[in-house]
Amino acid sequence: MPDRELRFRVFRHNPFDPESTPRMVQFQLTETPRMTLFTALTRIREELEPSLQFDIVCRAAVCGSCAILVNGKPRLACRTRIETLPNDITLMPLPFFKLVADLSVDTGQWFRDMGTRVQSWINAREPFDPNAEEARMSNETAAEIYELDRCIECGCCVAACGAAQMNPEYLGAAGMLRIARFLADPRDGRPEAAVFDVVSTEEGIFGCIGLAACEDYCPKDLPLTSRLAYLRRKTALLALRKSSQVEESTVADGYA
Ligand code: FES
Repeated sequence: MPDRELRFRVFRHNPFDPESTPRMVQFQLTETPRMTLFTALTRIREELEPSLQFDIVCRAAVCGSCAILVNGKPRLACRTRIETLPNDITLMPLPFFKLVADLSVDTGQWFRDMGTRVQSWINAREPFDPNAEEARMSNETAAEIYELDRCIECGCCVAACGAAQMNPEYLGAAGMLRIARFLADPRDGRPEAAVFDVVSTEEGIFGCIGLAACEDYCPKDLPLTSRLAYLRRKTALLALRKSSQVEESTVADGYA
């Protein structure tokens, strides 16, 4: 099969340049075997337009920096094979995040702010003792935490989320996953009231409108919708406890 001629329509704009206006610019490349979107963007920058800005670091779906909208869908450029795309490819920066320039957005600031809001660290019950024995946990618990820790903070879930586009304060699936990760950790001693205050809001679990696009477009296949459901159940449980309608032991409190 002859190599295809690919037509890229690429968003260009530098918000820090008063002369710049948002526009789409066309580039043409010949497809090569096993070409990825990372390869294509690098060739465009090296051969056609040296000023094109986009983010690439690890090239291995680990750092999360290369997420862009590919024909309207959030994807990692480094793990998107060109052979899975049509000849005409439109590239836009991720929505929701602050535009740096062209295809580059600042996901870092949002993830830092989100981490502060959800207290993305172990809230230890005791002061740290460097001489104490290492805290133990079961293999099952460790595996569960590891699964929830696989988020690479690429922003695809938030970019795909209709609720996030309407509410910039929404914590998104990435934020909820982070909360679920610490709730699963036996070393974490944060009070339930603190969890309730963050989760049971329009910026938290009640901001989700259930479209489930977060999970559809998560490049790491994280269990986002089941954790959202878990937090919804957890919130209901905490609300019941708060209003003292049930005893702590009468409501199932688990992932099932
Ligand atoms: S370059 Fe790191 S995830 Fe794509």
